[in-house]
Amino acid sequence: MSVRRSVVVGCGHYLPPRIVTNADLAEKVDTSDDWIVERTGIRERRIAGPDETTSVLATRAARAAMDDAGLGPDDIDLIVLATATPDYTFPSTATQVQAALGITQGAAFDLQAVCSGFVFALATADNFLKAGSHRRALVIGAETFSRILDWEDRTTCVLFGDGAGALVLEAQEGDGTLADRGVLSSHLRSDGRHFDKLHVDGGPSKTMTTGHLRMEGKEVFRHAVTNLAEIVEEAFRATGLKADDIAWFVPHQANRRIIDATARKLDVDPAKVVVTVDRHGNTSAASIPLAVAEAYGDGRIKKGDLVLLEAMGGGFTWGSALIRW
Ligand code: ACO
Repeated sequence: MSVRRSVVVGCGHYLPPRIVTNADLAEKVDTSDDWIVERTGIRERRIAGPDETTSVLATRAARAAMDDAGLGPDDIDLIVLATATPDYTFPSTATQVQAALGITQGAAFDLQAVCSGFVFALATADNFLKAGSHRRALVIGAETFSRILDWEDRTTCVLFGDGAGALVLEAQEGDGTLADRGVLSSHLRSDGRHFDKLHVDGGPSKTMTTGHLRMEGKEVFRHAVTNLAEIVEEAFRATGLKADDIAWFVPHQANRRIIDATARKLDVDPAKVVVTVDRHGNTSAASIPLAVAEAYGDGRIKKGDLVLLEAMGGGFTWGSALIRW
């Protein structure tokens, strides 16, 4: 049976050039390289300059993905941009990216699911393409978390970084089997009861300020491992696949210990897990497309590979997406 699939035809990323090491942070807050590496695996992160807003990072990543696909502005008719750090309260960052890329047709909108944002955006774009209303989508994860950190709070400011990654999806006909290229499954979950465990304490309606990120680290850690394992197992149940069938696992890059504990729980070979958290820190919605772009760029992810994305973030939100590259 012929079915429509959303096939990845382009992949790109952008990282701000400024590197901030753990030693740099130790000059500002009471922390150390040893503490940060042992608890998180993070060694350095990129921090956006004053002119590098989320839309600037997103536009550069999107342009790289379009170049990789060999496509121009007339070829894209959907932009779904995941971010928790938009340039403005409104209009959406996606519309700014659309204008910067010279795209004048189709639709562009932001999606907010914090660190799960890219998986939510990918699933959303996939459903638009499968429904037949759009043909080619830019799916972007872009963040400037450095702008919402409390730089005096050592428990949070050491964890995050800035960046952007993007995929171009194209609607193509498949056979409806797991041998098809494209997005083969997606599973999304939310549980709003956990608001206070990871949130920003400001917003236009509540405080009329931007606010700062606040987190109960231990609680987030506990839920992250449980929820990530659950949503990957859901993907396995839905497709009949098992860990050995997957070529690459690309988890949200929050913390090395969360990544390792989840892989252990799922009995995944650590050599098949893409890790960038040591150099990027947690870039929220950008972390998965940045990790995908790295593994694609260095030749690890190849055409035909099964790639499983898994994310968990504020809300709580969590999700997985299985792609045959
Ligand atoms: N440097 C030095 N000491 C620190 C730092 C720091 N940067 N931060 C906290 N500490 C201290 C604390 O003050 C505390 O000191 P005390 O014992 O004197 O009170 C001590 O270290 C232990 O603090 P804990 O919070 O208990 O440390 P924990 O082992 O839980 O590690 C961490 C903290 C790394 C945040 C951990 O809880 C964690 O990984 N949580 C997951 C959170 C995460 O990754 N969130 C990302 C966003 S969520 C997501 O994307 C899924």
